[in-house]
Amino acid sequence: MSFTEIQEAAPRLNRSELAVPASEPRFFAKAASGAADIVFLDLEDAVAPDAKEQARKNAIAALHDLDWSKKTVSVRVNGLDTKWMYRDVVDVVEQAGDKLDLLMIPKVGTAADVYALDMLVTQIERAKNYSRRIGFELIIETALGMANIHAIAAASKRIESLHFGVADYSASIRARTTNIGGANPDYAVLTDPDEAGARARHWGDPFHYALARLVGAARANGPRPVDGPFGDFSDAEGYRAAARRAAALGCEGKWAIHPSQIDLANAQFTPSAPEIARAERILAAMAEAQRQGQGAVTLDGRLIDIASIRQAEALVKKAQAIAAAR
Ligand code: GLV
Ligand code: MG
Repeated sequence: MSFTEIQEAAPRLNRSELAVPASEPRFFAKAASGAADIVFLDLEDAVAPDAKEQARKNAIAALHDLDWSKKTVSVRVNGLDTKWMYRDVVDVVEQAGDKLDLLMIPKVGTAADVYALDMLVTQIERAKNYSRRIGFELIIETALGMANIHAIAAASKRIESLHFGVADYSASIRARTTNIGGANPDYAVLTDPDEAGARARHWGDPFHYALARLVGAARANGPRPVDGPFGDFSDAEGYRAAARRAAALGCEGKWAIHPSQIDLANAQFTPSAPEIARAERILAAMAEAQRQGQGAVTLDGRLIDIASIRQAEALVKKAQAIAAAR
């Protein structure tokens, strides 16, 4: 291990993160009582310019009027390059900051963006004598943000998570996408011809590099890595595949842009019973190995060593947190 210790973000379930446009109060009660680990009330891109001010009022009222005690609740403010962000932050945090767990900041481009928000929120929290500190969720969704991601991830102690905003990221890098977060048949490799001249076509994930980079930056600095939206909510199988890829890379969860995606996300980011049982057996086998002065042993024909303990411990800890939240 390096002498530098990584301070992990406050532990919080983040398997599913439901996006709810704050301009649509009819969706709020169901979101507050539903199965998403985190709900964010959106003041940004799901809200039309003319509806921004009313949406802000709706979000503040919802934070007061609904019971969010079984949820983590967040508000996505507008970007730093708009005319709305300062008032989003001032009004929401002044009027309902004691009801709010997280602020989601879109299109973060530099560490200074986070610093500016931190300064503003810190002043409001002090002025209002809030006892709880509001955390930040940062969306990395521009070429600039991706270029500066390591500095951004380390920019404030408030940062709890980095989110991959694949829709805006695609727009920013001018990728040719078909549906948000989905695959693209143009991003494929052809195998060499076999003896009969046949060639297979293997689709790739055009966002593999970006998401893997985000996971690395998050884990190197402490925040949770979270995958963003999958646009086609009629394609449950496509969502599942995207969520499984994200989980395999190390993400802790994925957005749900429709309530039907919540259970899909929760299922993919919850360790399965066989995974938990295996992790517990690894811990037991390694405890026995250590008692006998060994650093590595064989379990089910596979080598396990001290690195396996860390993975198993993380998995068991997560399973316990999920069980406690039920
Ligand atoms: C989310 O905000 C995205 O742009 O994908
Ligand atoms: Mg976006």
